[in-house]
Amino acid sequence: MRIKLSLTLGKFPQTRLRRNRKDAWCRDLVAETRLSVKDLVWPIFVCEDNHPRAIDPLPGVVRYSLEELKKVAEFALKSGIPAIDLFSATPQEKKCSEGLEALNPCNLQTQAVQMLKSEFPELGIMTDIALDAYTSHGHDGVLRGNDVANDETSEILSKMAVMHAEAGVDVIAPSDMMDGRIGTIRHALDRAGFQHVRILAYSAKYASAFYGPFRDALGSAPSLGKGDKKTYQMDPANLQEALREAAQDIQEGADMIMVKPGLPYLDVIRKFKDTFHMPIFAYHVSGEYAMLKAAAQNGWLDYNRALLETMIAFKRAGADGILTYAAPEIVKLLKD
Ligand code: PBG
Repeated sequence: MRIKLSLTLGKFPQTRLRRNRKDAWCRDLVAETRLSVKDLVWPIFVCEDNHPRAIDPLPGVVRYSLEELKKVAEFALKSGIPAIDLFSATPQEKKCSEGLEALNPCNLQTQAVQMLKSEFPELGIMTDIALDAYTSHGHDGVLRGNDVANDETSEILSKMAVMHAEAGVDVIAPSDMMDGRIGTIRHALDRAGFQHVRILAYSAKYASAFYGPFRDALGSAPSLGKGDKKTYQMDPANLQEALREAAQDIQEGADMIMVKPGLPYLDVIRKFKDTFHMPIFAYHVSGEYAMLKAAAQNGWLDYNRALLETMIAFKRAGADGILTYAAPEIVKLLKD
């Protein structure tokens, strides 16, 4: 045992690990992890024409009109980004406590999917499935009493998923954390003839402070009931529970699973990769992106380097794909 260990680890001065780091070409040759544009999913905010575009806490990210969305799709296709993930901003006057706009077959989200799929069929399109963008209280489901009703919400979400599938979506991404929703959605999709539509389950979605800027973008900060999402999103303290969540989602039919947020949860990504032999995604969420931008704006760190280091960390931890608002910036950096 001792001999084997010393062979692997080597012994100074015969073994000098700095030798392989000496030149750039050699560092490239021995790099264990690589980042490619093909690893990226670009989350996109969509809004109606008269809606403000800028999102203060997300410098460089805007809400796009349907017309502008075409440019986004063209850019994604041209640069090799495989897929975009759509989040539509519901105007305040269309929100209600039941989130009914989510099931309006002509809502902004379905219009966006239809337009993209008819004009850019080769681009992968994902949609977020949860009610937070549609409810006046910002919760991911319907409130009964003081809390989100699990099974009733799952039923609504499965209708929403079928509606998106009818519009042409490729991947349904439920981000709501209701128990059993992957099974309910899978069943509803199959029954409606959409056996080919994939499900990317937000399996380990934590009740995180890092979603703040995203909620500004959609005006979806939770207010009523319990003013947070701790009764359905996970406690950041838990890893065992994340494994149970993922195992359940896989059993219920998830094609891919996600960990969210990303950087503070690299251990969860690694554990998922080692435990479940299937595609794992990391969501580099709004607050993580905002932190990098804010530090860079203050001149406190080199944005480009910090960004690429963050992405490589996701890959090293075991992520097959990364959802990040920085996708267009990464495209540029990888090209240079
Ligand atoms: C909706 C949803 C959220 C995010 C993705 N889908 C917010 C939330 O759960 O409150 C956050 C993404 C980000 O912060 O970038 N359920």
